Amino acid sequence: MKINNIDQYRDLAAKVLKEDAAAVEALLESMYKNGERSDAHLYESERYSLLAGGKRVRPALVLEFCRLFGGNTEDALPFAVAVEMIHTSSLIHDDLPCMDDDDLRRGRPTNHKVYGEAVALLAGDGMLMDAFGVVAGNTRVPPEVRADAVQLLSLASGSFGMVRGQIIDMFGETHALSEEELLTLHNNKTGALIRVSAQLGCLAAGYRKGSAEMTAAEHYADKIGLVFQIIDDLLDVTSSAEVMGKSVGGDATHHKNTYLTFHAIEEAEMIAERLTEEALDEISAFANAERLVALGAYLAVRKH
Ligand code: IPE
Ligand code: IPE
Ligand code: MG
Ligand code: MG
Ligand code: MG
Repeated sequence: MKINNIDQYRDLAAKVLKEDAAAVEALLESMYKNGERSDAHLYESERYSLLAGGKRVRPALVLEFCRLFGGNTEDALPFAVAVEMIHTSSLIHDDLPCMDDDDLRRGRPTNHKVYGEAVALLAGDGMLMDAFGVVAGNTRVPPEVRADAVQLLSLASGSFGMVRGQIIDMFGETHALSEEELLTLHNNKTGALIRVSAQLGCLAAGYRKGSAEMTAAEHYADKIGLVFQIIDDLLDVTSSAEVMGKSVGGDATHHKNTYLTFHAIEEAEMIAERLTEEALDEISAFANAERLVALGAYLAVRKH
């Protein structure tokens, strides 16, 4: 499926992200209330990062795959919120001085800049673990679906997924990686949470692992997940902190291995476009796939 004319997808992608973000933010808002004198800092710092207005791409994937496969998006909403909590915890930790040492995130000073490193560490830990309770407590779906969701989310987030990707990323600061190792890095650091988002949407709609629906969703997500990090690597070089709402240029400063270690900018853009077209082919035959087609196409040309 060619995406030559991206403009035809832009409005729908913006609408999808806006609608899904509103649902996710309403639930987050109700979950994190102000605390007492002694613990106020924890909830305040969690709210600070969670409700700072990220793009909400991962929860949108959860909700949209549920919708695509005929589910009720209300059933998927706790799963969507949980993924966003895990993602946000990963950002708080990613920005810490011991990791990427960044000062700006989601258009605001990073969590540790406002609340200090110890609170930032605990806020990240807290919301990471709270997320699993949210999934397990989603009584709108059967217990076996919740158990599957917990397992897939654990695999995607921990030592076999996002955290594994982060350690390879850190290792790469002092070692030259092969392109194959870089793909492992990207597929874990960023791809794993994007893949599990698609999987959770399928689960909420009643489709288990191995079904044709979940398999198509995984193929789509694996491709757009890689595109997502390719574009992130590109924008770190070509964009600005004002547009991105986060620091740029840090990959070079930290000697990171990125997609641009192996490919020139134009080449990386072409690969991102080709992967996106392949991703869209995975789902475009399903009825009502337009929202996910638009979202996937938009992510390949996003500017922030
Ligand atoms: C940033 O993710 C970190 C990566 C995995 C590249 P996003 O670009 O989705 O950040 P937010 O959620 O919109 O802030
Ligand atoms: C971070 O990747 C991915 C995770 C937080 C797991 P980056 O370090 O490239 O993300 P940014 O560029 O700081 O958002
Ligand atoms: Mg990082
Ligand atoms: Mg970073
Ligand atoms: Mg980056």
